[in-house]
Amino acid sequence: MIKFEELGELIKTRRSIRKFQEKPVPEDLLLKALELATWAPNGGNFQPWRFLIVTNKDLINQMADAVKAKTELIASWPEAAQFGEVVERWRKASDFFRGAPACIAVLMGRYSSIADQVLRARGENDPLAREIRSYRQLGNSSLQSVAAAITYLLLILHYFGLGAIWMAGPQQAKKEIEQLLCVTPEWDFVDLIPVGYTAETPKTPPRKAITEVVQFFRP
Ligand SMILES: Cc1cc2nc3c(=O)[nH]c(=O)nc-3n(C[C@H](O)[C@H](O)[C@H](O)COP(=O)(O)O)c2cc1C
Repeated sequence: MIKFEELGELIKTRRSIRKFQEKPVPEDLLLKALELATWAPNGGNFQPWRFLIVTNKDLINQMADAVKAKTELIASWPEAAQFGEVVERWRKASDFFRGAPACIAVLMGRYSSIADQVLRARGENDPLAREIRSYRQLGNSSLQSVAAAITYLLLILHYFGLGAIWMAGPQQAKKEIEQLLCVTPEWDFVDLIPVGYTAETPKTPPRKAITEVVQFFRP
């Protein structure tokens, strides 16, 4: 077992990396990291994930073009104007991942627990069943499972000396990215993880005090 201090060091020194060296990432490191990440807890052990490793520069650029096009579209809508500088920064940055030597596209499958299946069979007519279904959709078990694997993955990549970042932003070009990567309809593209050797040392974004985010209900 590793020491608590070592675990803390690994967790606390991981940063989201947005600038990468051109140096390629060894495939075997990516595979090793992904193999370990799939030991993450997941709903029903259904393992509702697939990982598409893209090192083809043309494909990465085409994904970045698709994300950029959607950013430009959204930023051009009159409703965007009220967000001023924030929209401008996002406009400039949303496709930074074109500089990454590797991108892992994370796909989510659709896992139905027994509760989901009963609720679906009950149909739309029972308002209570509909309400319970809405709670379960909000806390989507497959998405939580995928998030657990990505959390592990980022830590393992950091352990290997690689920089990476979790990006949900590229979902705005879901359709285009799924077409580029030949994703079949039973899968949904949910996140992109650009990976590479880091070319920056970002500041550590502070965390809220533990007292602010924890509450006890004692006996
Ligand atoms: C679910 C999720 C989605 C994220 N999506 C993006 C994204 O689209 N673009 C981006 O630049 N960063 C994204 N991030 C990275 C966060 O901005 C980053 O984790 C946060 O600012 C804390 O910084 P740290 O990871 O260095 O501790 C995302 C992180 C998470 C967990």
